[in-house]
Amino acid sequence: MTAASPEQEAARLREQLEQWNYQYYVLDDPSVPDAEYDRAMRQLVELETQHPALLRPDSPSQRVGGEPLAGFTQVRHELPMLSLDNAFNADELEDFNRRVLERLKLAPDTELEFACEPKLDGIAVSLLYRDGVLERGATRGDGTTGEDITHNVRTIQSVPLRLRGSGYPQVLEVRGEIYLPKAGFEALNARAREKGEKTFVNPRNAAAGTLRQLDARLTAERPLQMCCYSVGLYQGGALPERQSDILEQLHQWGLRINPESKVVRGFAACDAYYDELAQRRDALPYDIDGIVYKVNELALQEQLGAVSRAPRWAIARKFPAQEEVTRLLAVEFQVGRTGAVTPVARLEPVFVGGVTVSNATLHNSDEIERLGVMVGDSVIVRRAGDVIPQVVSVVQAERPDDARAVVFPSACPVCGSALEREPDEAVLRCMGGLVCGAQQKAALRHFVSRRAMDIDGLGDKLIEQLVDQQLVDNAAGLFHLEKTQLTNLERMGEKSADKLLKALEASKHTTLERFIFALGIREVGEATARNLARHFGSWEALSAASEEALLAVPDVGPVVADHLRQFFDDAGLMGVVEQLRAAGVHWPDVEVVAAQTLPLDGQTWVVTGSLQAMGRSDAKAHLQALGAKVAGSVSAKTHCVVAGPGAGSKLAKAEQLGIDVIDEAAFVALLAEHGVTL
Ligand code: IVH
Repeated sequence: MTAASPEQEAARLREQLEQWNYQYYVLDDPSVPDAEYDRAMRQLVELETQHPALLRPDSPSQRVGGEPLAGFTQVRHELPMLSLDNAFNADELEDFNRRVLERLKLAPDTELEFACEPKLDGIAVSLLYRDGVLERGATRGDGTTGEDITHNVRTIQSVPLRLRGSGYPQVLEVRGEIYLPKAGFEALNARAREKGEKTFVNPRNAAAGTLRQLDARLTAERPLQMCCYSVGLYQGGALPERQSDILEQLHQWGLRINPESKVVRGFAACDAYYDELAQRRDALPYDIDGIVYKVNELALQEQLGAVSRAPRWAIARKFPAQEEVTRLLAVEFQVGRTGAVTPVARLEPVFVGGVTVSNATLHNSDEIERLGVMVGDSVIVRRAGDVIPQVVSVVQAERPDDARAVVFPSACPVCGSALEREPDEAVLRCMGGLVCGAQQKAALRHFVSRRAMDIDGLGDKLIEQLVDQQLVDNAAGLFHLEKTQLTNLERMGEKSADKLLKALEASKHTTLERFIFALGIREVGEATARNLARHFGSWEALSAASEEALLAVPDVGPVVADHLRQFFDDAGLMGVVEQLRAAGVHWPDVEVVAAQTLPLDGQTWVVTGSLQAMGRSDAKAHLQALGAKVAGSVSAKTHCVVAGPGAGSKLAKAEQLGIDVIDEAAFVALLAEHGVTL
């Protein structure tokens, strides 16, 4: 056997790297560890540096070109890039179906084939391949003229620099959408926030901004994706005769297509597809703003033709908008359980993301500064999924003359105590502690909540009254309430009072971990409370623990340890604990679990899809409390995947790697087995 020539070796490495890229970025199916990929890439770069003659523009080493561009060149599209008509409800979609059938002179009950595709909310682009090699990437622009973004498109790993397989036309223009997946967007904004830079309003803006970079090195740092949905110009070759087959063909040539695409027959099935995707919209890893329906047969598309800017054979049914413009009427300040003073935007009510929104958090003074928002401004409000509504930006052009700056209070708006800002913190805090009515109420709400002391019949309205009438000022006070005090309150009959007293009595029998959690110590959530209970076994041992001893508990870092010690060193707070115990609050002893012997120690878990009984972050916290590491992606090292409905590529990957997958029911059972009840 003779040693491979540098030429053969370079060809082998290129082919290997292309194959891995394709598996990772187009099939969502990573096949090698990153380190191995990096090693092969380094070898290729080394070979190409030693033998510059081997260098080819479509080599995987050549995604990021040289110097930044001076500006963008305009590109004229040979075939215009059309837009789509919109339908905003099922009736309008049905009208579209009717129009199509009429034009084709088909019976009104004909069930035509439609290719259904998610409408990705990104930037439309065109890729031109000549002899299978990527020659040019361009934005849609106004449909006739766009901008040359070849340098940036080349950095997108799911865009092949060379098509795979064979049989492609000599000239092939592929069209699709470039977008930033949600996770990439969050990471990008988190980094920007850390550096004090401006954040992007939404993934679409971030993708657009990224594609407008003159320096491709910056583009390469952001995980843009490309998903293809049609072919424009083609010469010197033939294409399949149905939209769905074209997609399949593009996939075989190494381009990414949307795995949710589906062919259905007739309007009713189109409508059902919409419902299904609408339900899964929030669980998808990227933003979609609707569903695109295309008559599947190209021959029929041709018969139908196009009007001005949009084809008659396709339509987009839009989802309810997740962003709307409304007016900021006022900013009020709320005081939370830990004294944090949060500015809350009072908005002119607006229907967004499926609900009417009239309040949104503005987080803190840094956020207000970053937004540059003033009272009276028109603001863009976003509500996506279950995420609380956010003010994402200000429409500067619409600022009224009488807009007013947001003024932070100089004292606590509830108790008048001083406000302080801790070093390195953007939050202002009321120093009133237990004397602050707002903190008292918030602390009580937390204390009685289901996962804490679980006291039934003590709702927010009742807590308001109890604190406002100075019947109760801390948790211990609840256990000294008398029946007559209760029956004197609004909407409190004898029966409800008896019931509440009974619930209070019953709650006295609790567990150490619930008790610790119920105290509302800063940053001590359920999982941490559980770890503390198991580690120390008793309140006495816990409250006497040094900072060092606290740090030995899983999940407890210096910040949490500090909050714990501050609590234990606060005579007032410890006095409340004593009063609670004197009132009869008690718990059984806990068996101490030594650190490092947690049931899921050393295991890596992944949670994907949507869960019913808990959020994904709760699931994560439970797993961590049991000793597991929780990872964001599936690899050969994953021990088990918890998959809820809507799980996509991670589930597929796990199945392929033969990794254990359990559903939510099995997960809940497993948690219960380890003493975690929800
Ligand atoms: S087809 C004539 N398919 O929506 C066909 N467009 O509102 C025109 N889009 O500019 C495009 N996903 O940016 C098509 N699966 C999809 C799409 C899609 C997103 C975008 C595209 C287009 C805009 C039209």
